[in-house]
Amino acid sequence: MLQTVVAIVPLVFFIWFVAPALSVSSTWGNISNSAQLLHAENVAQGSSPEKYVEDEIKYPTNGIGNGRIITGIRAFDQVTNNTGGHATIYSGGPGFNFVHIKLQSQYNYGLIFRVEIYGK
Ligand SMILES: *[C@@H]1O[C@H](CO)[C@@H](O)[C@H](O)[C@H]1NC(C)=O
Ligand SMILES: *[C@@H]1O[C@H](CO)[C@@H](O)[C@H](O)[C@H]1NC(C)=O
Repeated sequence: MLQTVVAIVPLVFFIWFVAPALSVSSTWGNISNSAQLLHAENVAQGSSPEKYVEDEIKYPTNGIGNGRIITGIRAFDQVTNNTGGHATIYSGGPGFNFVHIKLQSQYNYGLIFRVEIYGK
């Protein structure tokens, strides 16, 4: 029994602390069950040798929003083999009616993200 625990503890620590750093999905704000999906976007960018690949998501896409306030945002990294990228909010976000998100790959790799923006 003790041996099993000793074997599992390092594994749990690995999953908690190491795995999130490799495949980075992010959530900002608060996505309640009653929140409405304001916008969803899938981004796929192939890798480029010796480069960081980037993409941007702007909501509202045409610059004219419907006045809805964003309550929460999720960026799902769809790459499961530890070569995925990460998402950063540049401006706006929860509490605002707009958001500008930047997606960046790891060096030499591509990006596959699904971003969902919720509001009320
Ligand atoms: C998130 O939403 C839940 C459900 O509406 C609410 O109870 C909670 O206070 C909210 N938390 C924040 C930090 O806004
Ligand atoms: C990792 O996964 C991505 C997307 O599924 C794929 O395009 C890429 O070739 C994979 N890379 C490696 C090193 O397996």
